[in-house]
Amino acid sequence: MSRLSLLAGLLSLTHIIHAINITEQAINQKRTLSLGVIVFPGWEPLDVFGPMEIFFSLSYPYKIRLSVISKTAGPVSSTVPPFSITGVGPPIDYGYLLNPTIMASHSFEDAPPLDVLLVPGGFGNVVLEQRNDTSIEGFIRRRFDQLDYLLSVCTGAMSLAKAGVLNGRRATTNKGAWGSVVRHGENITWVPTARWVEDGKVWSSSGVAAGMDMAYAFLSHFYGTDRVNNTMNGIEYAPHTDPNWDPFSVVHKVCFSSPFDCMKTEKEITPRFPAQT
Ligand SMILES: *[C@@H]1O[C@H](CO)[C@@H](O)[C@H](O)[C@H]1NC(C)=O
Ligand SMILES: *[C@@H]1O[C@H](CO)[C@@H](O)[C@H](O)[C@H]1NC(C)=O
Ligand SMILES: *[C@@H]1O[C@H](CO)[C@@H](O)[C@H](O)[C@H]1NC(C)=O
Ligand SMILES: *[C@@H]1O[C@H](CO)[C@@H](O)[C@H](O)[C@H]1NC(C)=O
Repeated sequence: MSRLSLLAGLLSLTHIIHAINITEQAINQKRTLSLGVIVFPGWEPLDVFGPMEIFFSLSYPYKIRLSVISKTAGPVSSTVPPFSITGVGPPIDYGYLLNPTIMASHSFEDAPPLDVLLVPGGFGNVVLEQRNDTSIEGFIRRRFDQLDYLLSVCTGAMSLAKAGVLNGRRATTNKGAWGSVVRHGENITWVPTARWVEDGKVWSSSGVAAGMDMAYAFLSHFYGTDRVNNTMNGIEYAPHTDPNWDPFSVVHKVCFSSPFDCMKTEKEITPRFPAQT
């Protein structure tokens, strides 16, 4: 037996992949991560602050730099601007909504080089669509090749689809807003039953709170689980670790790409809050 085949016998493919992962994680633990988070008027608070909490806590042991990026730097409110959800009829004034506001540190023009870009959702991206505002999609398209990872939460996947970066990929989105998101883009395999979907450097999560589970999975992949698990214990959050766990595709009846998906989910998972009929 040659030395090479002996070596090959000792090192199975799994061993090699495992070793590569460990090496990548060791490098990531030492590097400075440049994280960008996009916001727009009407951003969904937990889409941003769910993942942000986990990144924030990990910025104790690891070097992470944050840029909050919007059309213009300055305060950006989660209150949805006045709009008509159907696009017809008079706009509805949502000024009565709560108004948590974040400070954008950068505009799309002056954002620094980024390693990871997080794109949240929220009703505000329907407003942007109605106004034909493509500034977010333009930014994603310009930056995509330089990014190590692009993450979307909830209807943030709509911006990815419109930017064209999901073409030929698998992705998921909020199950309650399914139809309005999946009509965007070309040749995208939308996964109807998924808490989150990983396709190469693009990770997309289901609605709002699902972003925290994706962030846990992503950061475990990026840094290894050691410190990430400590962080979850610190923030007292027990993430769902099965990407196929998705009772909400049943609640929202998202079954069109494969009826079997919903049947399977119905048997395996009882929705916690069945839809009122
Ligand atoms: C290595 O990372 C890939 C990509 O996240 C993952 O699918 C695979 O299970 C990992 N392999 C091992 C042995 O940890
Ligand atoms: C957006 O573009 C559509 C299609 O070109 C057009 O009909 C509509 O008037 C535009 N809306 C605004 C607010 O510019
Ligand atoms: C669609 O995406 C798949 C990968 O999922 C790729 O193999 C195929 O060539 C793409 N088709 C077109 C028309 O772009
Ligand atoms: C972190 O938690 C996950 C999920 O419970 C577990 O599979 C993994 O082994 C843990 N990692 C460490 C280093 O304990």
